[in-house]
Amino acid sequence: MHWDIGIDLGTHSVRMAELKNGPVMSAPAALAFREGNRVPICAGEIAERLVGRTCEGVSVVYPLRDGVLENNLYAASLLQWLFRRSEGVNTRRRFGAIITCAPFARPVQKEAMLTAAIDAGAAEAMLVRSDAAAAVGAGLDLNSPEAKLLVDVGAGKITATLFTFGRVAAFGYLPYGLNRVDDRIRRILRSDYGYRVGKTASEEIKHTLGSAMPDKAPRDIIMHATGISMAKRMPVNFDVETKPVLDACEDVVSELTRLCRAVVDNAPEELSADLNDAGAVLTGGGAAMTELDRRVGQALGIPCRVADVPENCAIRGLARIMEDPNAYKELLLGRQTKQVW
Ligand SMILES: Nc1ncnc2c1ncn2[C@@H]1O[C@H](COP(=O)(O)OP(=O)(O)OP(=O)(O)O)[C@@H](O)[C@H]1O
Ligand SMILES: [Mg+2]
Repeated sequence: MHWDIGIDLGTHSVRMAELKNGPVMSAPAALAFREGNRVPICAGEIAERLVGRTCEGVSVVYPLRDGVLENNLYAASLLQWLFRRSEGVNTRRRFGAIITCAPFARPVQKEAMLTAAIDAGAAEAMLVRSDAAAAVGAGLDLNSPEAKLLVDVGAGKITATLFTFGRVAAFGYLPYGLNRVDDRIRRILRSDYGYRVGKTASEEIKHTLGSAMPDKAPRDIIMHATGISMAKRMPVNFDVETKPVLDACEDVVSELTRLCRAVVDNAPEELSADLNDAGAVLTGGGAAMTELDRRVGQALGIPCRVADVPENCAIRGLARIMEDPNAYKELLLGRQTKQVW
């Protein structure tokens, strides 16, 4: 089979690559539906701008939740929207799609994802571990015997994987990602400060004031935000201090470092020793959090670096895997072919 198109479907974003052109697009994995309608009104950027702004009868949805498929109809709609935008496949009768999948997805979720791709128009669909795609995209040679530690920090999941000789030697995950920090920020601002803020505002606050090293973060920075004052019941501009944001980050970052330590502790001694030279690599949008590389490096006692454009590692890697999937046989998670009657 020819794998013409690659899709990195994440909890927050979806990215697409074509066999000939490599990565071609990235968009929020959002769809807007009118009640009772199976065809979305819009998808991607426009649908995301509708989050929190919809009127009655319209809802904005994401096919994945916490890194795994939640709704296969939404996934099929999103994949169809992407396939139609790809010059490489929208004129072809038969094409193969290769899609990233969380390594901890249950068999029924993997099956549903494959079926969604077939329903969206692919003649054949294959799943590849999302952490393996990210590692290839970060430039790691997974087929060499030396160990490589990859930590993928996404919106809905965090994975830590130790690869050796084309296989996984140790793996661990958190069933939540950096979206949890946004939720915490919203909760703290509401309960301790009396302001309600939207999802976009809380994400912006995280990006601006968040840090993985609370002790080293400057405490005197203040950010202006807009929200609803619960006392006045009206929109107001207010100042956000760093403390609640650092507290929200720390909850997730401390679990992340614990996860990385557990994965390294579970690995055979020789492989753990390899990491002293090779270090750890961070990928995923969350890898851009201030000082996260330093914090993970300190927790493990090894060097740690953030990959180049970390949010695009998985799709870059998928573009490479599409060229020669056989070289990554052990890292594939399943395959389905369209039945022709
Ligand atoms: N500078 C930053 N500081 C903190 N978080 C950030 C920063 N930049 C991006 N993020 C977060 O990274 C997350 C998006 O990462 P990514 O695009 O890799 O997720 P995804 O692939 O959609 O989800 P997943 O792979 O977990 O299913 C969002 O939660 C976003 O807020
Ligand atoms: Mg991802």
